[in-house]
Amino acid sequence: MRASSGDGYLVMKDPYKGWKLADFEENGADLAVVIADTKLPDCPIIYVSDQFLRHSGYDRHEIVGRNCRFMQGERTEQEAIERFRQCLAKGSTEVIKITNYGKSGEAFVNTVLLRPLDEGSDDTRLFLAVQSREKS
Ligand SMILES: Cc1cc2nc3c(=O)[nH]c(=O)nc-3n(C[C@H](O)[C@H](O)[C@H](O)COP(=O)(O)O)c2cc1C
Repeated sequence: MRASSGDGYLVMKDPYKGWKLADFEENGADLAVVIADTKLPDCPIIYVSDQFLRHSGYDRHEIVGRNCRFMQGERTEQEAIERFRQCLAKGSTEVIKITNYGKSGEAFVNTVLLRPLDEGSDDTRLFLAVQSREKS
């Protein structure tokens, strides 16, 4: 496991149920990790990995505190958005493909594995997304 820098890693002071976020980043796997808090107003992002910044073109300070829908745009599929809503409401685990846009406006297909971090709890709060960017 490699250590990483950045604001997002404040979250690592309190690893959730043994998950170590940097495990996702080892050996150059090109997967981005995002965590959002459903108990805060509009479910803001509380953590993004360095890969997420590379995939989206944004800086960390432009992203943390916002809802992930900022990456949606004209060609984003409504049914994919609806699947996100359902998954968050049910606390289920899903893989969702969605057309997103980077900071410079280019569209890309984002394959998102979404799951509750505290799966099985009656009071699901944090959701983890592992994302893979494909060419559109
Ligand atoms: C952890 C997490 C990661 C998400 N990642 C994305 C994403 O990469 N792209 C996207 O379009 N929506 C993503 N979403 C979904 C949106 O944040 C939002 O839930 C979705 O647009 C449906 O809600 P709305 O109807 O309020 O927009 C993510 C949600 C969560 C909780």
